[in-house]
Amino acid sequence: MLQVLILYTSSTGHTEEIADLLEKQLDSRMCKVTSENFEMGDMETRHLLQFDGILFGTYTYDDGDLPFETDIFCDTLRTVDLTGKVVGVFGSGDTAYEQFCSAVDLMKMEFTQQNAQVIQHSVKIDLSPDTQEDLQSIKKLADEFQQTTLNLISLKETRNV
Ligand SMILES: Cc1cc2nc3c(=O)[nH]c(=O)nc-3n(C[C@H](O)[C@H](O)[C@H](O)COP(=O)(O)O)c2cc1C
Repeated sequence: MLQVLILYTSSTGHTEEIADLLEKQLDSRMCKVTSENFEMGDMETRHLLQFDGILFGTYTYDDGDLPFETDIFCDTLRTVDLTGKVVGVFGSGDTAYEQFCSAVDLMKMEFTQQNAQVIQHSVKIDLSPDTQEDLQSIKKLADEFQQTTLNLISLKETRNV
């Protein structure tokens, strides 16, 4: 079983909706999913290391910036080496803002700097995930994340034989 952490923050519930849809797209025969809202901070680094892969979600705030709690989370993230872990990033934003969903790109960079294998495709949703295109984008991330994590686990197992 793949150990998957869906970790997100959501002020008005849109990013949480995406997190729920991602969880539904993962194959429950293959993935054991833990879903957590990290809004309250206080995340321990070893917690992240218990999982094979992380799906990370954040909305965008303040002219294309990270919300406060995501910024605080980054202080923890910067202390951990995520070599061998797969990460996918998703989030909600609002196309009325010039920097649409830019927190998603900022977090992809943060995870890359910590040596995670970051899935190229990320999910950026205008407010609530309610179009066919939104659902396709969510499915694409779930599929690529699951496949990449599986591949990495089999590679590790082969090396250990
Ligand atoms: C003060 C403020 C600033 C925001 N700035 C941005 C922004 O720069 N880019 C963007 O895409 N969305 C921005 N948003 C929109 C939120 O990201 C959007 O409402 C999102 O759906 C919230 O997600 P949540 O329901 O998961 O909290 C801003 C919202 C507020 C209230």
